[in-house]
Amino acid sequence: MSVIIAPSILSCDFGNLERDFELINQSEADWFHVDVMDGVFVPNISFGFPIISALKKVAKKTIDCHIMIVNPDQFIAEFAKAGVDILTVHYEACTHLHRTIGAIHEAGMKAGVALNPHTPVSVLENVIADLDLVLIMSVNPGFGGQKFIHQAIEKVKQTKALIEKTGSKAIIEVDGGVNLETGKLLVDAGAQALVAGSFVFNSPNPTATISSLKQL
Ligand code: DX5
Ligand code: ZN
Repeated sequence: MSVIIAPSILSCDFGNLERDFELINQSEADWFHVDVMDGVFVPNISFGFPIISALKKVAKKTIDCHIMIVNPDQFIAEFAKAGVDILTVHYEACTHLHRTIGAIHEAGMKAGVALNPHTPVSVLENVIADLDLVLIMSVNPGFGGQKFIHQAIEKVKQTKALIEKTGSKAIIEVDGGVNLETGKLLVDAGAQALVAGSFVFNSPNPTATISSLKQL
């Protein structure tokens, strides 16, 4: 199966959101990657529900929402209402992760867990069976356009081994500093979904760039 490509709308032109949403709709991309930041869990603030609801009205593809916020539990219902399909919370932001995963499923969404670069894959051992997605961060979350942290490749291999050992159906997604070179290394290591922000939207032809990632 070909790799799932999830362009990050964080790198869109916010003065031309509808144009960029349509570009993703018409491209070979599979998902919209939506980065929500609260200025507390990460040192940046992005956007919230009004943007997700606006996207939902026009999106012809899965909405893959990565929330970099503290206390994610309090907003699960609202993310579901806004039209999110896959909701990914950070391991580091959840005291009762098992409960949070259950609440995401009860709200009708698929559940993902993201790991910061310093967090070992082994913390997922007791929840991997319940997960639909594991998001390996290959940058410290908060900003687009950062340098790829190579240790993510080893973490993808470890996640793949954990998934195979447990028979989990979770998809392995990687986020941060993805381009054709790092993307190839990640796919070879077992990544099934790649997020790409600046590499897509800072390129002269985002549609063609998405297409080239899709060939990996
Ligand atoms: C970082 C976000 C990423 C970001 C990726 O905190 O989670 O999704 O948009 O941007 P690039 O692809 O530019 O590293
Ligand atoms: Zn992200």
